Amino acid sequence: MADPLLPLAAQVRENAHAPYSNFKVGAALRSVEGRVHLGCNVENVAYPEGTCAEAGAIAAMIASGDTRIAEIAVIADSPSPVPPCGGCRQKLAEFADGDVKVTMGTTGGLSKTVTVADLLPGQFTAGHMTATT
Ligand code: THU
Repeated sequence: MADPLLPLAAQVRENAHAPYSNFKVGAALRSVEGRVHLGCNVENVAYPEGTCAEAGAIAAMIASGDTRIAEIAVIADSPSPVPPCGGCRQKLAEFADGDVKVTMGTTGGLSKTVTVADLLPGQFTAGHMTATT
């Protein structure tokens, strides 16, 4: 695991509450302020109420008073690196610049690094809400 955030993501993944999917995910991010924040998926018997690992890490970052993501790693037990879901891509884009690295890892030791912009081209931004009339 080359990225130092990956082992931290793997550790917090153990705490995931995923009795419905049996698919545990862990996320570890480093904020621009220099601290590490962790998250795991937390599912619910009312399935849509579950939250993703990335969302948990972002919530921990914001609750701590840190503001922006410098780098993030996500890990799961999967045959290939697991990319963030569509909703998490938008959540990452809210708190990370386009060139921020997203490392996706597997518990088996595979990893792949892309950027936030790679994951969400043509993203919806605040600029789109500027009225023209
Ligand atoms: N999941 C995440 O936590 N992050 C991802 O990037 C992909 C999916 C979770 C949501 C759900 O608890 C489980 O994985 C199966 O979709």
